[in-house]
Amino acid sequence: MTQPAHNLDACPPDSSPASSPRSTARTAGRGKMIGESPELLAVLALVDRVARSSCTVLVTGESGTGKEAVVTAIHDASPRKDAPLVTVNCGAIPEQLLESELFGHARGAFTGAHAARQGRVAAADGGTLFLDEVGELPLALQVKLLRLLQQREYSPVGDNRTLKCDIRIVAATNKDLAREVAAGRFREDLFYRLNVIHVELPALRDRLDDVELLAAHFLTLCAQRAGRTDLTGIAPSAVEALRAHDWPGNIRALENAIERAVVLAVGPELTAADLPPQVLAASREKAPATLPALGIDFRAAVEEFENQLILGALERTGWNKQRAAQLLKVNRTTLIEMVKRKGLCA
Ligand SMILES: Nc1ncnc2c1ncn2[C@@H]1O[C@H](COP(=O)(O)OP(=O)(O)OP(=O)(O)O)[C@@H](O)[C@H]1O
Ligand SMILES: [Mg+2]
Repeated sequence: MTQPAHNLDACPPDSSPASSPRSTARTAGRGKMIGESPELLAVLALVDRVARSSCTVLVTGESGTGKEAVVTAIHDASPRKDAPLVTVNCGAIPEQLLESELFGHARGAFTGAHAARQGRVAAADGGTLFLDEVGELPLALQVKLLRLLQQREYSPVGDNRTLKCDIRIVAATNKDLAREVAAGRFREDLFYRLNVIHVELPALRDRLDDVELLAAHFLTLCAQRAGRTDLTGIAPSAVEALRAHDWPGNIRALENAIERAVVLAVGPELTAADLPPQVLAASREKAPATLPALGIDFRAAVEEFENQLILGALERTGWNKQRAAQLLKVNRTTLIEMVKRKGLCA
């Protein structure tokens, strides 16, 4: 299925009441998003343009690529920024509750509905409604969402009044919605209504140039939180290892890896030995033994490489020194002596 082309010109500038007194700075679309890779800069430029309109936006990308961060950036750069950004996680709310969570309900609409209650659509009035994990939306509710998207109209559960709202709708998913449509799990008309502007977040492995910037950013944040003012930076070999990993969990996994390293690091720098085993495993497979343009601290690099191999063998064998020594083809006593001398521990 072909994706509809973006037509930003077809999207009117946002004319919500909140939009009139302010104009939004062109550069506001970055929010708290770090990165200078051409792939991320293209996303930020699109965010910047769409923020000023009231267009529906569909944000896609693998888990942990920053979909929620982009939605927040769109809202914060939009004329609606002083009104609420209300999130509905379509995958986390049980199907029976989702409709009343979205649209509210009348008193007595169902057992336990002792009083009428507003839903999240009403709570988002004047602002942005974020439908997270929209690919999980049950088919029965997809029809009702279509009405909301087309007419900005809805009815609370157990109430036949038609209510109007002024909301901007942004949706996110890590599913391939076109494939969901083909499989009959997602309505095609709803897909096109959501997919007016498509922001696709690149996987971290496809923008490796951002890895070092992001890692440094998370080091500052995590070191502050953990009170590790002694940590000064990330050793080049650790940067190499971070760049060699393919990051299936994307930015969230990188953040977790740095958080863990901050706790484990002896300091003053984070070293490759402080990184999670799965990150080191990838870097070992790629053997990044290239000489950097500015030369290298040979002894430190060799030491680092030895540490990675020793820790990798120990981790793979559950710290069984006999089996780890066999993997490294050294005597058990040699391994024990090296572990002691280098101060390596689990
Ligand atoms: N460009 C970025 N710069 C700095 N931090 C970022 C960036 N992108 C994402 N993050 C951070 O990475 C983490 C994961 O991002 P987010 O929750 O937006 O991902 P997601 O795509 O919504 O993930 P999921 O699919 O699991 O819901 C968050 O802590 C977020 O703040
Ligand atoms: Mg998310």
